[in-house]
Parts: sequence; structure tokens; C-alpha cells
Amino acid sequence: MRVAFCADIVGRPGRYMLKQHIAHIKREYKVDVVIVNYENASHGFGLSAKNAKELFKLPIDLMTGGNHTWDKKDIIPLLDEMPLLRPLNYPQATPGRGLEVLEVGDEKLAVINLMGHFTMPMVDNPFVMVLKEVERLEAEGIKHIFIDFHAEATSEKRALLALLKGRVSAICGSHTHVGTDDLTIDAGTCYVTDVGMTGCRDNSLGMAVKEVLERFLTGVSSRFDVPNHCKKMLQAVVFDLDEDGKCHKAFKVKAYDDEIVKVVQEAYLEQ
Ligand SMILES: [Fe+2]
Repeated sequence: MRVAFCADIVGRPGRYMLKQHIAHIKREYKVDVVIVNYENASHGFGLSAKNAKELFKLPIDLMTGGNHTWDKKDIIPLLDEMPLLRPLNYPQATPGRGLEVLEVGDEKLAVINLMGHFTMPMVDNPFVMVLKEVERLEAEGIKHIFIDFHAEATSEKRALLALLKGRVSAICGSHTHVGTDDLTIDAGTCYVTDVGMTGCRDNSLGMAVKEVLERFLTGVSSRFDVPNHCKKMLQAVVFDLDEDGKCHKAFKVKAYDDEIVKVVQEAYLEQ
């Protein structure tokens, strides 16, 4: 089974890059499952119902969320109707779900969307909750488990790898928007601290730099905006899982504007 994961898609430029490249990535790299994080997809904050429908016309199997899942209110009823996740560790009464099991040929792939604690809204303990879910999935015989860990702190992400390596297929980080260079396969688990965003590569984290600089220069906040025109980038991690759910090969691809997608990094295989 080959899976591709694109982390934070930021605004219209991010959606443009998916439209330009995701079908090609799926075809060129013979990807079975495409997972994308939607939480910044509509003008940088959340996902609108209109954009959700538009994105699902592309070859995307499931989308994960984060702290901005709730920013566009018309998406909330669709969380139960579409393959859209919100972080697992919101309280039980919160709309939506944080785990979905996809059928991939004869195999099953469990996708978990998890959120960290540091600088994030108040949610349940991600480590305790995910461990319980992984134990439940193991008891059900599900061997292919992917986690999008949407978290600010690198320490939380590395700690999750330490907790679950050898037990889950992949842990890919999202939320910080800057890709890290630690793509590794450790004990059969594909891991990267952050995949990095898809959207404007100039400016700041996909948002217009003007308001960001104002905030840093004056200490006064104004609403962030996604630029209409910018230099763009797409980033994705692609990983292969054997029938036991173990990862044996992973690589990162990038595309700049309309240029062809290229492999930029192979995962280091930890011995
Ligand atoms: Fe986020």
C-alpha cells in the first residue's frame, strides 16, 4: 500500500497547487491513498463547505483537520457526511470524529488525526488517548495505522514517535507549516516532525507578511490574510507499507509553482 500525505493546505494558493499536482503525484508515483490536511484551506482558516466539495473532486481520499477545523461553521454538519476528520482528542461531545478506517483493496488503513497540547486549544491528553485507540485497533487486527499529529512543539511529536514506533505505520506532523528534514523509518514507522505546508512559499507561513510584520514591529495584531499573488510550493510525504503495516520506503516530493514534482528526500532507514 502506498500513501501520500500533504500537510496544511493554505488558502487559494494551496488549493491551486493541489489542483495542479495531486492527480499527477497519484499517477506518477502509483499512490493508493491520498490524505490532505484541510485546516487552513479556506483563506487560511478552516475549510468551507464549498471548498470541501471542490477539493473532493480531486483524487483525495480523506482530509484531516486541526485547531482551525471550526473556523468555517458550514463545515460542521459535513464532518459526519464526508471523509473529514477533526482531532481525536477533542471532548466526546464535539461534532465529528478523529479516526476513520479506509478500505484499500483487501487491506484496511486506520487514519488518526491527533492534536498536541502546547499553544493549542484545551483538548484531552493526546498520548493517553491515541495509545488507547492503537490498542483497540491492534485488538481488531488492523495493522496499517497513520497518524497526522497536528502540533506546535517538536518535542511532543518526537515523544509520540518514541511511544508508538514499531506499533503504527506512520506519524507525520502538521501545523508548523515549515517542513523538517528528519524523514526517517524507525522500527517500521515512517516519521517526520512536520511535512510543511502547501501554499505561498514567500511571505510568512502561507500568510501575507505585511500583517505579520506589523504584529512583530508594533505588538498590535490585525487579521492575517492569504496573498492573492505569490510564489507557491507543494510538499508531500509518500510512504510504502507492507502487508504487516510496516513502512519500508518513504520519500518527500515537492513542486514549485507549475514545475514538475520532484523527489527531494529519501527517508533515512534507522538500524
Ligand atoms: Fe494548525
